[in-house]
Amino acid sequence: MPHTCVLIPGDGIGPEVTSAARAVIEASGAPVEWVEGVAGASALEQGHADVLPESTVDLVRTHGVALKGPCTTPVGGGYSSVNVALRKTLDLYGAVRPVRSLDGVPTRFEGVDVVVVRENTEGLYAGIENEITQGVVTSLKVATEVACERIARFAFEFARDRGRSKVTVFHKANIMKLSDGMFIRAAQAVRPGFPEIEYDERIIDAGCMRLVQDPTDFDIILCENLYGDVISDLAAGLVGGLGVTPGANYGARHAVFEAVHGSAPDIAGAGLANPLAILMSGVMMLNHLHRDHGDDACGAAATRIREAYDRALVEGRTTRDLGGSLSTAEFTDAVIAGMGT
Ligand code: NAI
Repeated sequence: MPHTCVLIPGDGIGPEVTSAARAVIEASGAPVEWVEGVAGASALEQGHADVLPESTVDLVRTHGVALKGPCTTPVGGGYSSVNVALRKTLDLYGAVRPVRSLDGVPTRFEGVDVVVVRENTEGLYAGIENEITQGVVTSLKVATEVACERIARFAFEFARDRGRSKVTVFHKANIMKLSDGMFIRAAQAVRPGFPEIEYDERIIDAGCMRLVQDPTDFDIILCENLYGDVISDLAAGLVGGLGVTPGANYGARHAVFEAVHGSAPDIAGAGLANPLAILMSGVMMLNHLHRDHGDDACGAAATRIREAYDRALVEGRTTRDLGGSLSTAEFTDAVIAGMGT
């Protein structure tokens, strides 16, 4: 039985890169069928009242898995970010950003293989801000035991299930004793259930210094929301930037996979967009279908796709942002040809 996955093209380069990912996934033989949902500025253009129509959320609720292109958040008009709204509505509490060195993408370090696990629902992103009096505002940082405990458990389970060896918490509990204190206490409480996983804590400033000195010192980095946002981009920069970095947002029942870059309006429609990040996110989606739904064919397809794009990179067959000369379509064709299908 094929899996039905929701494809959300998004805006700008979104339709180009998602259709490239779809073409590769289809050519890989993965048993996946698609239903399309709309979100972002294109939802407004199609007559929806909001950037995240309820019909799109319902599709993800029904099918459980989505591959999402970048969405433009219109400036003004009071629209909230599609990503933030989707995470909140579906309680996608665990963001995962794998960051690994790629042969053929030269960077300062080799052998980087880090996964940033970010709490996605609270912290300063709870969005509770007040103007106390004119010229004085506050932003509330929210931490709950339930959310701290579930993301810590998620990180350790992720480490155990993927054969990883270490979880490092980045925190600032020396200053934010209650909120970040709760975050590290939750990790410390979960840790004994995973004796095979090494555990470490770093005050975030010192942790950042170490991360840029030697990223190979880290395996899984666990952070609350704001730190995770910053650290995951920093980590992406270590391996070649947002164009080669996939992402996933997991909840108890749903998972949304997406590239980390935006809708790149400056190159939309020009055939210049690199579809690699969304394709890598698609590989994460297939691995999820393999792991959580027991579909070996999806796992095999994920491996085939990964080997094919790794090979294209090594051979220098890349889009311009990575120093090559291929268009979006030419790179897509190179990956498909590399699968030998
Ligand atoms: P951006 O990531 O869209 O673009 C930054 C630079 O990177 C641009 O020069 C762009 O051409 C380049 N770039 C990005 N992706 C590329 C790709 N796949 N291939 C080749 N070059 C690529 O960030 P920006 O300009 O800050 O945001 C544009 C819009 O995207 C905004 O409306 C923003 O809200 C939205 N956005 C959406 C995200 C999402 O839906 N996940 C994430 C970040 C931004």
